Amino acid sequence: MQRPEEIRILVGAAEVLTCTGPARETEQEDPAGRLAGGAVAIEGDEVVAVGDAKTLRQRYPDAAEERLDGGVLAPGWVDSHTHAVFGRWRADEFALRCTGVPYMEIARRGGGILSSVRDLRALSEDDLVERSLPRLAEMLQAGTTTAEVKSGYGLDTESELKTLRAIRRLNGMQPIDLVPTFLGAHEFPPEYRDDRDGYVDVLVKEMIPAVAEEGLAEFCDVFMEPGVYDRAQSERVLRAGMDHGLVPKLHADELEGSGAAELAAEIGAASADHLGAISETGVRALAGSETVATLLPGTLLVLGRKGYAPARALLDAGATVALATDFNPGSSPISSPALITGVACSQMGMSPAEALRAATVGGARALRREGKVGVLAPGARADLVHWGVEGASEIPYRFGAPLVRAVWRAGERVL
Ligand code: NIG
Ligand code: FE
Repeated sequence: MQRPEEIRILVGAAEVLTCTGPARETEQEDPAGRLAGGAVAIEGDEVVAVGDAKTLRQRYPDAAEERLDGGVLAPGWVDSHTHAVFGRWRADEFALRCTGVPYMEIARRGGGILSSVRDLRALSEDDLVERSLPRLAEMLQAGTTTAEVKSGYGLDTESELKTLRAIRRLNGMQPIDLVPTFLGAHEFPPEYRDDRDGYVDVLVKEMIPAVAEEGLAEFCDVFMEPGVYDRAQSERVLRAGMDHGLVPKLHADELEGSGAAELAAEIGAASADHLGAISETGVRALAGSETVATLLPGTLLVLGRKGYAPARALLDAGATVALATDFNPGSSPISSPALITGVACSQMGMSPAEALRAATVGGARALRREGKVGVLAPGARADLVHWGVEGASEIPYRFGAPLVRAVWRAGERVL
């Protein structure tokens, strides 16, 4: 007979962030769901109770106790938009941009995403795995326990499958839970520069069926942007993905508006991501839908843009907002969700509690894992971070400082 798992209680934190509050902060309601002096009871890989230490001790008199010396206990970050599996960094392009050459101009010159494509095509699956491990370790050190990772630097069937297979292997090799997204529509490969619809045919008829057949991705994403995928091409790819069981997501209105948020809402996408140039109609469309507005301010910060996505308007209209890093070698070499929450507060008018919730629960919803990750509540996976801070607001306020003291993934201490 299998013995019931032993229950452990984490006690002694100054504050527990349950992240179970509402999306918007009001005088009465706290999005971060802060519990002063709270404790968390864990059974196996799952949280079974959150409350004050005395109540939990009474409820579980035989539980083992793990004592923390102050600090804040929070759910692990759910980083719901990354391109963390790639070949080399592109600091050369950053240097160019700092002298005034725009991101899209670098792309037109054959750099940008296409330079990462040349690079990744030349690497073996083993190389890709090896290069990715230290980056995932960096993300874990930042407190991330769930991360979405996109393909999209392959842009041919073999290289896209190689990337997704590398992601699958990485899933078992390190503690972060990786959620794979197929982004074969990240750019048009050089071979199809003059036959864009021909490449869309390959995506729809060859790549998506192959990805689905091997069960290599959960989501399907497209970079819909003027000069890249237009609306008709984007919709064709996303609908083909849906026909194969892949849930749609969209890089939407990143730098120039093109009605992508509206398409995401219409098609029932899990999320519309970026939204730096979303229109008022787009805001209303997302607010009236189940599609999460995933904001990636690190990208606009790194690209040196002055404006940010209208987080306040989205929240006030009732949209679900997520914050994520967009960790990638081009537009956002930022691996720290804590830094992103700081930018969201200082540049986008979000409160610290709203930002903390958006980078946990918001991300979980964008990955269709609500209640399972991103919260400290009964039934959630025991993914926790112990922060060396006195209160929750210090996490965004310290802009990505290395304040993570410990990380647990599925109940197991991994850092
Ligand atoms: O989310 N917009 C497209 N994709 C990435 C950038 C990728 C890159 O530059 O390598 C983004 O910003
Ligand atoms: Fe992206």
